[in-house]
Amino acid sequence: MSQIDETLKLRFGPDTPTTPDILGRHEFPGQLAGRRSHRHFKPDLLDPELVNSLCALALCAPAKSDLQQRDIVIIEDADQRAKLLEIIPGNAWMDTAPMFLVFCANNRRQRQLNEWRGPPFVNDHLDAFFNASVDAGIALATFMMAAESIGLGCCPVSAIRNESQKVSDLLGLPDHVFAIAGLGLGWPAETGRISMRLPLTATVHTNQFSEKGLSKQIDAYDARRAEAQPFSNQRNIEEFGKPDLYGWSEDKARQYAHPDRADFGDFIRAKGFNLS
Ligand SMILES: Cc1cc2nc3c(=O)[nH]c(=O)nc-3n(C[C@H](O)[C@H](O)[C@H](O)COP(=O)(O)O)c2cc1C
Repeated sequence: MSQIDETLKLRFGPDTPTTPDILGRHEFPGQLAGRRSHRHFKPDLLDPELVNSLCALALCAPAKSDLQQRDIVIIEDADQRAKLLEIIPGNAWMDTAPMFLVFCANNRRQRQLNEWRGPPFVNDHLDAFFNASVDAGIALATFMMAAESIGLGCCPVSAIRNESQKVSDLLGLPDHVFAIAGLGLGWPAETGRISMRLPLTATVHTNQFSEKGLSKQIDAYDARRAEAQPFSNQRNIEEFGKPDLYGWSEDKARQYAHPDRADFGDFIRAKGFNLS
């Protein structure tokens, strides 16, 4: 079996169809198949030119209507990083990342263009928030692919949105600009591991969305994952007990049994977005 097929079967399950030969003849698809987040880094500092170049590659990603509604903040200053860590405690690994960046959605520039050029901005509705968020997410993903393609390791950090207002104040983000996620970056100190995914039969649909057999597929995924990569901690045991099989679905159900960032909508509205 080819390396890429082995990796994809490990990730998505033994029934994953094999890939056409063309994927195996290129390096990048195999790297993508085996990618993983990294949270442990060597102390080596990163060349600022390299980081800038990766930002350039990230911003080569497509953007809705070429509006280019995403920006990147590179946190170079040690004090600024320390303040960021103070704002979001419980993410100590971030301190070991030689570089930290924040990816932002920026719908402000579009509004400035309308103001400066004259035609009125008449799209003050949910789509403005959504388009900028998607553009920023694509830039984040593209940055990661570029970084991982040369052996760097990274991990996104949406935990910065636990304290969106404080992060916004720290970074000086104006109205209609907000952080979607941070990114810790460096040379990996450990190999890390491939994280298993739901089978493609559950997540890739043909012609029409389908949930046929979903519950059974999730049971099978839970079992496969618990066997190979059991969760080391169970959430909220006092509240929900300690089942013999603590699978992915149990973990995710418990995770969302408590409110998380319930104030994010208020924060986004305060940033000037009309979400209707
Ligand atoms: C938008 C986004 C936000 C994330 N936020 C965090 C975070 O705050 N802290 C963290 O440790 N990992 C974070 N992650 C990493 C995920 O936990 C990780 O991607 C997931 O467990 C799958 O593992 P893998 O990336 O190794 O495949 C985030 C990932 C994404 C895409």
